[in-house]
Amino acid sequence: MIKIGIQKSGRLFEDTIQLLKSIGIPISASNTSLKYSFPEFPLEVYFLRDDDIPSYVETGVVDVGIVGKNLVLESQCEVELIRNLGFSKCRLSFASPRGFKLRDLTDFNGKSIATSYPNLVKGFLKENNLNCNIHEISGSVEVAPSIGLAEIVCDLVSSGSTLIKNGLVESFTLLESEAVLIANKSLTETELFSRFLLRIDAVILAKKSKYLVLNAPKERVAEIAGMLPGLKAPTVIPLATPNWVSIHAVVSSENFWELIEKLKKYDAEGILVLPVEKMFS
Ligand code: PRP
Ligand code: ZN
Repeated sequence: MIKIGIQKSGRLFEDTIQLLKSIGIPISASNTSLKYSFPEFPLEVYFLRDDDIPSYVETGVVDVGIVGKNLVLESQCEVELIRNLGFSKCRLSFASPRGFKLRDLTDFNGKSIATSYPNLVKGFLKENNLNCNIHEISGSVEVAPSIGLAEIVCDLVSSGSTLIKNGLVESFTLLESEAVLIANKSLTETELFSRFLLRIDAVILAKKSKYLVLNAPKERVAEIAGMLPGLKAPTVIPLATPNWVSIHAVVSSENFWELIEKLKKYDAEGILVLPVEKMFS
């Protein structure tokens, strides 16, 4: 049995539920009672406070966890970082009121910084030989300058609207973060964990991929195939129309609009782009 800890509410919640569903775990977002188990796969899901997940994984209360990389690094817990999951992307950044814009790192010297990430901030200050006071607060960091608690904040930024609402300007980024899969060090070699990871990887890879189908004149095959790395090489199938073929390939979801524009220049027609549900490398 693998015990997995996930966030019970908050920024990772929806996508985490979606990920578990897509690996065949019929979990529901509407019932987040502490613990769930499933006959489909020997997995037990625990809904937890996200701050607790790294230490629960470290101590073996749960075997694996899905949590923001920011919390894993801040916690300094000894866990294996297994995969970046590609969702809940955000950054941990410094910001200050509009009237006091941070232009240079030396502007930090002598100032006070409000944050919920004291360990990461301390590390950053030390690395850059800066001297500041750190005010550790557990929430609503963005109001610290307006109530006179600190001149600078270091907090998570996603859309940036919290900063704007509070009259703050982002300056330096300490960390780029996203949801990650972490595991207890003793678990990673087990057979059950590799079965779990096979499923996770199939979904991660599928999200990064699209299935492309197009028709093209036969004499364009070499040029078009050169643009489509695919898994091995694209599949080329003759069409009933003489000298025309259908080309099938798996392509990266990134930059695929540019790819379509290029393909059209090489006389590709009837281009279809389909989502990939699961992909095994
Ligand atoms: C983070 C952060 C900001 C907000 C930034 O809080 O502390 O308040 O998100 O997001 P935005 O750039 O899209 O406005 P979070 O939602 O994680 O909750 P918390 O502050 O209670 O931890
Ligand atoms: Zn917040």
